Amino acid sequence: MKIKIFDFTDENLQDIQCCKYCIYWEYPEECIDPVKDEKEDLIQKKLKWLQDTNRLFGSCGKIIYVGGKAVGYAQYAPSKFLPHSSDYQAGPPSKDAVLISCLFIFHKQFIRLGLGSKLLQSVIDDLRSRRIKACETFARKGNSNNPSGPIEFYLKNGFRIHNDDKEFPLMRLEL
Ligand SMILES: CC(C)(COP(=O)(O)OP(=O)(O)OC[C@H]1O[C@@H](n2cnc3c(N)ncnc32)[C@H](O)[C@@H]1OP(=O)(O)O)[C@@H](O)C(=O)NCCC(=O)NCCS
Repeated sequence: MKIKIFDFTDENLQDIQCCKYCIYWEYPEECIDPVKDEKEDLIQKKLKWLQDTNRLFGSCGKIIYVGGKAVGYAQYAPSKFLPHSSDYQAGPPSKDAVLISCLFIFHKQFIRLGLGSKLLQSVIDDLRSRRIKACETFARKGNSNNPSGPIEFYLKNGFRIHNDDKEFPLMRLEL
């Protein structure tokens, strides 16, 4: 498999499959199921969030490609850029940490091949190089259907439970 990972930018926004329509973390009050006519509005909102966050925080996403095809996406930023994070019981995310809001391998045939771990490692490497102290995420217990995936994935990748919850514990990795 020829694997490449690139920063999430204006130019590759179109590559992130259904995630380009998702504003769950960014604009929780406006989060809706996209119908055809609304899709362009949702992409424009995602693009505005990306541009604002890039300007104020710096790089805030990675896309993983296999053989030139985008197969996964990670998004991360301080929690003030991700207002939905304040709705989680195990929150708020720590002030010294960057929150991984999303980490998703889009295509079923590419899961459990180590690509999610590679994508996560690229996020960790980026944050370390920027001297960020820690990264956190709301993982899910008992179900992998979650924006950033299941708790087992984060435990396997060195995270620990920072603040427990019956369904969405806040996980943390010191960098
Ligand atoms: C969660 C996810 C990002 C992990 O990426 P991945 O490439 O599949 O995971 P890796 O191959 O790097 O897995 C590393 C380890 O994490 C753990 N893990 C990964 N996915 C898991 C799952 N679904 N259940 C339990 N453990 C899991 C395992 O310990 C795994 O090691 P193993 O395969 O040797 O047992 C990916 O599977 C995914 O996106 N799944 C879909 C989740 C979903 O529906 N999200 C909705 C988004 S809106």
